[in-house]
Amino acid sequence: MTRILVINGPNLNLLGLREPQVYGHETLADIVNDLRSYAADRGVELSDFQSNSEGELVSAIHASRETVDGIILNAGAYTHYSIALRDAISGVALPVVETHLSNVHSREAFRHETVLAPVCLGVVAGFGRHSYFVALEALLRHLGHEAG
Ligand code: DQA
Repeated sequence: MTRILVINGPNLNLLGLREPQVYGHETLADIVNDLRSYAADRGVELSDFQSNSEGELVSAIHASRETVDGIILNAGAYTHYSIALRDAISGVALPVVETHLSNVHSREAFRHETVLAPVCLGVVAGFGRHSYFVALEALLRHLGHEAG
């Protein structure tokens, strides 16, 4: 069975409360639960992890090395400056899709840079909750996953 891990970084635990005009009204649990059933319908096992701490995110990436086939990663603000996360992604050599709810390129200049994208399979940004579903589809196609 194909196994995918969804990792969410700092402040994403506040989804639903946090700047709803930017990030929407749904909670992270709403999105992840829907993503899990969407994945299950395709014969995919989806696990998830959220932390506000950079070190815990690095450790989660390391731990996933032999337990999953790919990662959907919304690293929040760490996207823009965490070399530690970038090195963790390179280190495990798993396909990772960098994912954002908002279109980071239409926002403040400091959000235009991503230090993670060069070591990721690709980037999905700007589709709200749908970004996670697009990222999942992209990963499954990359992995040659057959639905069912
Ligand atoms: C975000 C975009 C980041 O710039 C921001 O720091 C976040 C959320 C997004 O999903 O749009 O925390 O990753």
